[in-house]
Order: sequence, then C-alpha cells, then structure tokens
Amino acid sequence: MSGELGELYQEIILEHSKAPRNYRRPDSANHEADGYNPLCGDRCSVYIDMEGGKIEEIGFQGSGCAISRASASMMTQMVKGKTKEEAAQLFERFHSLVTGKDEAAAVEELGKMAVFAGVSKFPARVKCATLAWHTLQKAIKDEKEKEPASSA
Ligand code: FES
Repeated sequence: MSGELGELYQEIILEHSKAPRNYRRPDSANHEADGYNPLCGDRCSVYIDMEGGKIEEIGFQGSGCAISRASASMMTQMVKGKTKEEAAQLFERFHSLVTGKDEAAAVEELGKMAVFAGVSKFPARVKCATLAWHTLQKAIKDEKEKEPASSA
C-alpha cells in the first residue's frame, strides 16, 4: 500500500498503538490467557468476560511493538459482543489478510482492521499482528467460565 491511503492506514495503527483501547483487565473477566511471540520475546494477555458463548467484555495488556498493540486494540473493539464462533471466523479472515491470502474477502469483512493488509509484505511482522488473536483463541478455550448465578 502506498501514497496517501498508506499514510492514513499507518496513522490508524500509530494512533491505536499510542492509545490502545480496552487496555485493562475487566473486573468481570472469567477467561484469560497469555501469549508470547518467540521471535521478539513480547507478551500479551487477553481477558474476556464470556457469557453463554458470547464475548461480553474484553481487555488486553502486555508489551509489544506498534503493530501488535494496534492489532490487539482494534481486535478488542471488533470482537466485543461477538460469539466465540464469530470471533474464530474473524481471526481466520484476519490471518488470511496478513498472510496475503484471499485479501478481497478479508477486507470486506474486517472493515477498519483491513489496515493490516500491508503486513503481508513483511512476513516477520505476521506474528506481531496475530499475537493478540492467537491469545484470544487461547483465552476463549480457558475453562474458567463460571456458571451464571442460578435464580432458583
Ligand atoms: Fe514483538 Fe512485534 S516486535 S510483537
């Protein structure tokens, strides 16, 4: 991606990396996982409040480069309110996007997150862009979900 559009996309990534959204552990979190990028040693934790298979609340924390932080930030915005199946499908799309496969379909479904398409030209950065997503998948499988309080 080049020219003005490329710059605009770069700005969105920088803005999210400087002021990441949902950078916290929600009090209600009942699923969590830690992720690790072996290429650089950076880490990411993802916390979810999952109720009945739906991501009601989500946050993340960790160290990482601008791409990993921006990706985590935008991911939290994107998957909030989604079911775990929908989140898995979005991850599949995002993975296709950053690895340069099936880009058109991915762009259509990912909206703003399509700014990460440029990552496909830098294979070493794919792990940065997907760190939070892998961690999200792990968190979804975390077995700590509590049963809702019974009204009986
Ligand atoms: Fe470590 Fe990108 S360089 S996550």
